[in-house]
Amino acid sequence: MANASGLFTPVVPSGIRSRFSASVGIHRSGFWFSEGVSTRRVLCASTVEGAENISPSQSRVPRLSNRGCKLVGCGSAVPSLQISNDDLAKIVDTSDEWISVRTGIRNRRVLSGKDSLNALAVDAARKALEMAEVDPIDVDLVLLCTSTPEDLFGSAPQIQKALGCKNNPLAYDITAACSGFVLGLVSAACYIRGGGFNNVLVIGADALSRYVDWTDRGTCILFGDAAGAVLVQACDGEEDGLFAFDMHSDGDGQRHLNASIKGNEVDHALGSNGSVLGFSPKISSYSCIQMNGKEVFRFACRAVPQSIESALEKAGLSGSSIDWLLLHQANQRIIDAVASRLEMPSERVISNLSNYGNTSAASIPLALDEAVRSGKVQAGHTIAAAGFGAGLTWGSAIVRWG
Ligand code: ACO
Repeated sequence: MANASGLFTPVVPSGIRSRFSASVGIHRSGFWFSEGVSTRRVLCASTVEGAENISPSQSRVPRLSNRGCKLVGCGSAVPSLQISNDDLAKIVDTSDEWISVRTGIRNRRVLSGKDSLNALAVDAARKALEMAEVDPIDVDLVLLCTSTPEDLFGSAPQIQKALGCKNNPLAYDITAACSGFVLGLVSAACYIRGGGFNNVLVIGADALSRYVDWTDRGTCILFGDAAGAVLVQACDGEEDGLFAFDMHSDGDGQRHLNASIKGNEVDHALGSNGSVLGFSPKISSYSCIQMNGKEVFRFACRAVPQSIESALEKAGLSGSSIDWLLLHQANQRIIDAVASRLEMPSERVISNLSNYGNTSAASIPLALDEAVRSGKVQAGHTIAAAGFGAGLTWGSAIVRWG
């Protein structure tokens, strides 16, 4: 399908799904905890004095003593092709007024022509490394948070290669839709605090335009493509910049938001031989995004404030000590409802979705990068960040910038 200008031809390739479930946190004080499990200090058996006294069950979730992590660089990249609400009104029965009033979105960027999501991810990551003044050679982990990889087996190693991380750091994909970046951030902190990693690139990159039904006005108005990245670096425990987090998933809610696999039988490929093997081979593809908007809206307005309140409590902080509320950019009405519930004044709420729409795992680092580069978010500021979306998954992290 092309838009009125003929510039944009969305396609629907295969994708990848995985899962995440946990409700765990790490306190700044150095305690790892899991809901329903008593809080205890856990030390890394290989590096800590007296480690021989630690039982295997205690060392399963290791933590190196006196190690923290901090966010020291960010970057973002978006495709050049912009699609406005008026453009969309030329291909589906909608209007700029309906979209902007119901969602706050006015424009979105989408991949076109030879654009690639990997290239956006690399661009964003390079900018984050530059800001952090970290050489790619010193990166020891690349986490690519995406639900729309360009390789079903994972794109992170390709990003690692393109960046020139010549020490062959670990690189893999994390799939958790719009919660992906927050999960990546928390994973980075765990690797640094417990695994001895020093420089972790967390990239959120998604191209949901490839999975949108461009004839469905209920969904095609919402999404855009982008990439954002943050460099998370090891530091002294006293300087730790991830104060607490809270994460959840609920597979029951998957029926409200999904892009599920479809198996198309291709027994003609085997001819009559298929019956000899006793199975019908299938070539898989994924359906376009299926969403019950009202249910997702209700879920986000209920679950996100609870998650942020829970993370704040774990961090021992109140809402008034937060400088910025940075939510996944899905709908301005969701952002406003969550801010109101948390009694956050609008001037402390970061929002840029009017320009980009919902960019899934990219939305938080993209908005963070703009806020940092414009001077809004400054070193030492505390941010309550929350992601939510398909899975269903949702989670929040209380972090300090810089
Ligand atoms: N233009 C004009 N009319 C429209 C459009 C449109 N683009 N879309 C729907 N309508 C119509 C409907 O047909 C309906 O008409 P009817 O009353 O005659 O039946 C009417 O508008 C109301 O439709 P609703 O779907 O009830 O509209 P709603 O107020 O719920 O807004 C929206 C829809 C914007 C999608 C909202 O539900 C929403 O934002 N939900 C949250 C989605 C979200 O945040 N997803 C994030 C996660 S994404 C991820 O994780 C991948």
